[in-house]
Amino acid sequence: MQVSDLDTPALVVDLDVMERNLRRVADYCAEHNLRLRPHTKTHKSTFLARRQLELGAVGLTVAKVGEAEVMLGAHPKDLLVAFPVIGEPKLRRLAEIARVMRVTVALDSLTAACHLSNAGTAAGVEFSVLIEMDVGLGRVGVAPSDALDLARAVGALPNIRVRGLAFYPGHIKDQNEQMIAELSATIEAVRNQFDSAGMTPEIVSGGSTPLLFRSHDIAGVNEIRPGTYLFNDMNTVGSGGCALEDCAASMLVTVVSHTRGDRMIVDGGSKTFSSDRNHSGGAAFGRLVDAPGASFHKMNEEHGFIDLRGADRHFEIGEKTRIIPNHICVAVNLHEFVYGVRGDTVEEVWKVEARGKLQ
Ligand SMILES: Cc1ncc(COP(=O)(O)O)c(C=O)c1O
Repeated sequence: MQVSDLDTPALVVDLDVMERNLRRVADYCAEHNLRLRPHTKTHKSTFLARRQLELGAVGLTVAKVGEAEVMLGAHPKDLLVAFPVIGEPKLRRLAEIARVMRVTVALDSLTAACHLSNAGTAAGVEFSVLIEMDVGLGRVGVAPSDALDLARAVGALPNIRVRGLAFYPGHIKDQNEQMIAELSATIEAVRNQFDSAGMTPEIVSGGSTPLLFRSHDIAGVNEIRPGTYLFNDMNTVGSGGCALEDCAASMLVTVVSHTRGDRMIVDGGSKTFSSDRNHSGGAAFGRLVDAPGASFHKMNEEHGFIDLRGADRHFEIGEKTRIIPNHICVAVNLHEFVYGVRGDTVEEVWKVEARGKLQ
């Protein structure tokens, strides 16, 4: 099947670019002795998770227990839930997973750890824990200076083994040298505190896609959990984390209306792309590969509004064109299938098995 035969809207992935992205990060981690535990929220597919494991990933990361259940199918050695798991039903399901593989949870409270410990004790399984620190994003995580106290308290609980620290540097959206230096100093200080207490962390897990290739500059980090890196998107380009030619994923859409000379409507809106804006303010809802000067400035659920005044070309009704989305992780979650293409040929179709697994 050719790309032009695909019905639209369709999420297509350039396999040459994706494979290059996967290899580059695997090589980078090998060169800097970093454990790679990719976040599977981006692709939500066991097929791609297996590829990451084949290239040396030490395990997989998920945000949801439902994603963990799906990712069992990729047979990782280890699953990290990088999200506090709260509530009886989820903990029971997580304990079932822990019967068949090592499960690690990143958490930031003694309450969450006690619930996990109780679930582990009831099921007769042990959970590993990473102490989550807030290093500037202001989301989850204890203050870095409180991490040691929490680690001591959590480590005293039955059926729990504290294995280290986790943080997510999502507040650094560009390659800001001062912020990277501050982050490094913060992590080094916490590590020193743990070392002095005789509790040297086995794992210090950080890493986002924008800062991926700076991970070796953050003192003490020995594991990274990027997700976006295999596809990339316009926000990663905007962060300086990748070049435009590293964007593997795009949305194939069809021009369906042309009632005004300088505007066209395509068959993809917020239910195809998500409504995520471009962090750097450019390219609106995505970049038209064939007409970079066009502005994808507005969306309804099923309609994409493209202003063609800045474009140097015209599109006919029925013509198909590709648009690189701003935020690929949320876009993937909206699609049932992803089409892997090489040149003009559709080589692979994979199911987004964990889409909608929100619990
Ligand atoms: C806790 C955590 N770890 C890792 C990631 C992956 O980062 P990225 O999307 O920048 O690849 C995310 C993304 O949101 C995250 O929240």
